[in-house]
Amino acid sequence: MKKGNILIAEDNELNRENLKEILIEEGYEVNAVHDGRRAMEAFTADRYDLVITDLRMPNVDGFELLKFIKEAGSDNLVIIITGHGTVHSAVSAMKMGAFDFITKPIKDDLVKLSVSRAMNFANLRDENVILKEHLKDKEGFHDMIGYSDCMKKVFETIDKVSASDSTILITGESGTGKELVARAIHFKSERRDQPMIPVNCGAIPEDLLESELFGHERGAFTGAIRNRMGRFELAQGGTIFLDEIGDMSPALQVKVLRVIQERQFERIGGVKTINADVRIIAATNQDLEKAVEEKQFREDLFYRINVIPVNLPPLRERGSDIAILARHFLMTFNKLKKKNIEQIAPEAVNYLMRYSWPGNVRELQNLMEMLVVMKEEGSIIEDDLPAKIRNSSEDRITEESVFLPEEGIDFNKHIIRMEKDLLLKALKMSGGVKNRAAKLLNLNRTTLVEKLKRLDIKDGWID
Ligand SMILES: Nc1ncnc2c1ncn2[C@@H]1O[C@H](COP(=O)(O)OP(=O)(O)OP(=O)(O)O)[C@@H](O)[C@H]1O
Ligand SMILES: [Mg+2]
Repeated sequence: MKKGNILIAEDNELNRENLKEILIEEGYEVNAVHDGRRAMEAFTADRYDLVITDLRMPNVDGFELLKFIKEAGSDNLVIIITGHGTVHSAVSAMKMGAFDFITKPIKDDLVKLSVSRAMNFANLRDENVILKEHLKDKEGFHDMIGYSDCMKKVFETIDKVSASDSTILITGESGTGKELVARAIHFKSERRDQPMIPVNCGAIPEDLLESELFGHERGAFTGAIRNRMGRFELAQGGTIFLDEIGDMSPALQVKVLRVIQERQFERIGGVKTINADVRIIAATNQDLEKAVEEKQFREDLFYRINVIPVNLPPLRERGSDIAILARHFLMTFNKLKKKNIEQIAPEAVNYLMRYSWPGNVRELQNLMEMLVVMKEEGSIIEDDLPAKIRNSSEDRITEESVFLPEEGIDFNKHIIRMEKDLLLKALKMSGGVKNRAAKLLNLNRTTLVEKLKRLDIKDGWID
């Protein structure tokens, strides 16, 4: 594996060759040139992780080269080499943005140390930039929508738990918004100015996950060519989000348990114990209690993380939220795709509300994106919806209500019961407005009224 690309600018041949040799031995790729102008050319032509430059050189000197690099808007690190007794020029260079300086005569060990510090710094900075990008615009609840009673409860819990430092376990089917809840908790907590570091325990191969979480020391295993911070260290002062914690191997479960209990850990291959000032939020779409029974998940870890459980209900149980979320995504994608789709026709909304949404909010979001992209203008109507959604009303009834016990049932009674349940549910969902209830069931209003009468459902509902 390549360790990094270094550009050296030094007019003194002996020093130049010496530096080159030390760094090549350390595993870096090195390009060494003998004046500032050549360095500028090389810098423009190639990508470097670090530039090491002498200050006094013919043509373009080290200061000018440093200025050129900084003005190019690059975040390249520059190490300065200064002659004996000219430390004051090193100080000026540091003020101009140099990362470090090395004094002549050049000592191998000091060069190695300075270069490895610069490389570590660059690595960390890159990771932080990626994380910051990821976190942009994700504050508070502002992109989390929900008016249903169950979502109101979720919001109340988020408000309550944010202030504390307790460990939280978020459960819910895939796509219900677990990550969004984790972010909301972090950004409402005192830790909001520190990072929130997500780790998808299910997506990272088992043998890499340990080093990803705890970091490693150089040489801890084959391929560990530099010291590396783990996610627990990167999350210091902030929050770590252990996503899909149910997928974590038993060996790692023990190690995470230790961090939770003792708030301490070591890097792989490291001897120093590091204190973890980190809030832990875990999430899973598995039934962890069942996994505990089946000995797939440690009971002690389960109780440690399940201090405050937050359960996200599946979208199909959130009633009117489906329509509200669909409109929210319509507006979002209108903006993103520079479209102007007016609305979702009521008929189409009814279909959305009847569908079972196995992929939950994410599925609805993807559908709305597709619809906005495909539609030229006007409103989204029934015919724009994919067949699986238009044909879904029957599927849902089959899926949810067919249970045939071994001792059998009375068919006619059962059908009447089911009819009654559906009518009552439709009336409830439509706030008692018969027209709307009829639409939900795809019935004429008169048929609905007849059925209510026949089934002796008391009429207190709105016409
Ligand atoms: N209440 C909500 N309001 C607005 N957008 C939401 C809401 N819930 C989820 N989303 C959006 O739906 C998508 C899925 O949410 P998220 O990634 O948080 O789900 P998840 O439960 O972590 O899913 P998985 O188990 O698959 O990881 C995201 O794009 C998120 O922004
Ligand atoms: Mg997730």
